[in-house]
Amino acid sequence: MASISLVAASALGKSSLKENAFMGVSLSNHSTMSEFDSVCARRTKRNRVAGGVRAQATAVMTPSETKFTESSKKTLRKGNVIITGASSGLGLATAKSLAESGKWNVIMACRDFLKTEKAAQSVGMSKENYTIMHLDLASLDSVRQFVETFRRSNLPLDVLVCNAAIYMPNAKTPTFTADGFEMGVGVNHLGHFLLSRLLVEDMVKSDYPSKRLVIVGSITGNTNTLAGNIPPKANLGDLRGLAGGMTGQNGSSMIDGGEFWGAKAYKDSKICNMLTMQEFHRRYHEDTGITFSSLYPGCIATTGLFREHIPLFRTLFPPFQKYITKGYVSETEAGNRLAQVVADPSLTKSGVYWSWNKTAASFENQLSQEASDVDKARKVWDLSEKLVGLA
Ligand SMILES: NC(=O)c1ccc[n+]([C@@H]2O[C@H](COP(=O)([O-])OP(=O)(O)OC[C@H]3O[C@@H](n4cnc5c(N)ncnc54)[C@H](OP(=O)(O)O)[C@@H]3O)[C@@H](O)[C@H]2O)c1
Ligand SMILES: *[C@@H]1O[C@H](CO)[C@@H](O)[C@H](O)[C@H]1NC(C)=O
Ligand SMILES: *[C@@H]1O[C@H](CO)[C@@H](O)[C@H](O)[C@H]1NC(C)=O
Ligand SMILES: *[C@@H]1O[C@H](CO)[C@@H](O)[C@H](O)[C@H]1NC(C)=O
Repeated sequence: MASISLVAASALGKSSLKENAFMGVSLSNHSTMSEFDSVCARRTKRNRVAGGVRAQATAVMTPSETKFTESSKKTLRKGNVIITGASSGLGLATAKSLAESGKWNVIMACRDFLKTEKAAQSVGMSKENYTIMHLDLASLDSVRQFVETFRRSNLPLDVLVCNAAIYMPNAKTPTFTADGFEMGVGVNHLGHFLLSRLLVEDMVKSDYPSKRLVIVGSITGNTNTLAGNIPPKANLGDLRGLAGGMTGQNGSSMIDGGEFWGAKAYKDSKICNMLTMQEFHRRYHEDTGITFSSLYPGCIATTGLFREHIPLFRTLFPPFQKYITKGYVSETEAGNRLAQVVADPSLTKSGVYWSWNKTAASFENQLSQEASDVDKARKVWDLSEKLVGLA
């Protein structure tokens, strides 16, 4: 995958890349440019400063290299971590990083068994360190089936990582999950909502000293950043579409009740992910000690997330991110970041949205007003419960 960026960069020439990227994408396809910037662009100055100040104030900035202490190495059993969407991109890189540490058994929860097996082998994971279990987040039955299968393994569950996502920026019309939800929100939010609600009960029973539930977020759902302010902006409105089930039959396929827009559905789903993490924190942290967290892993321009995009975009996006916006992180680096949120002893604070600064140090980032709206978080939780059959 890295070869794509190298080929594109050398073909265009590093110095002329800026003009080429702008002309090729910005001028010929305006909506693509807005995607370009908004899916993952650089953090704004304001955001960087805000994050830095807040992190200093709360004194939680931590070196990324912290290792387990010698004593914990001896006493800790191997942890069991479920990672959804571990067949490619960030999920795969995280699975590899944790498996390599020798401290984790990684349960790769994926919809395509063969693809996942090949992916695990291609990055050199050894069979003793991972298990593949079938999970299709576009079906609530599959989610329930997965939970049953996992329970039959009799493994304790120590960490759950909700990472899988689908992004369909060019879709003209909505597609739907088995249960009739618009696909973006159905997979990224509702499937994960049911999964994590069911599995948090398993985590409660685990004896592992640092249990964590991580939901991968994104800068794009965050309207307090430059990236999050480029149309279509994430906006859940009064949740009337969510209340209607986003079936497209009864009103709208969008959470806010508006017209279908694939890129917005993705961003809206990411807001739901971040709201869900915080609502989990409020409802469960004190009683269970489980750490709930989210993160922005950086712009990983090479992943399959952009597979639905036009070919020109896919060629130009990685070098654009790498040389122009400098928001680029490799899949390996992003995987190490998510692995820190899973395992680093210094990242145990609950309710936090982690980001990394230029020197690769983690800090507590701020969420936009909507992504930290307590009232909205509760409403999204209640409506989602109804849709997935928990209430
Ligand atoms: N790439 C970025 O720059 C970026 C930036 C910020 C946040 N993120 C977040 O990072 C996470 C991972 O994205 P990525 O960039 O690694 O993308 P990716 O390479 O496309 O990986 C997405 C994963 O989700 C899986 N998936 C999709 N639909 C599924 C379903 N119905 N059931 C089960 N699994 C399903 C895919 O499985 P298949 O292999 O079977 O398709 C794949 O394993 C997402 O939460 C995304 O929002 C990414
Ligand atoms: C698998 O885990 C073991 C510890 O259980 C570790 O020694 C080994 O290096 C890991 N193998 C790979 C390929 O990651
Ligand atoms: C249609 O949406 C309304 C809320 O807007 C809801 O009360 C009603 O149950 C929905 N009907 C169906 C058939 O989904
Ligand atoms: C990044 O964080 C580290 C501490 O974690 C801090 O020393 C450094 O100044 C920060 N860099 C930027 C660019 O914010």
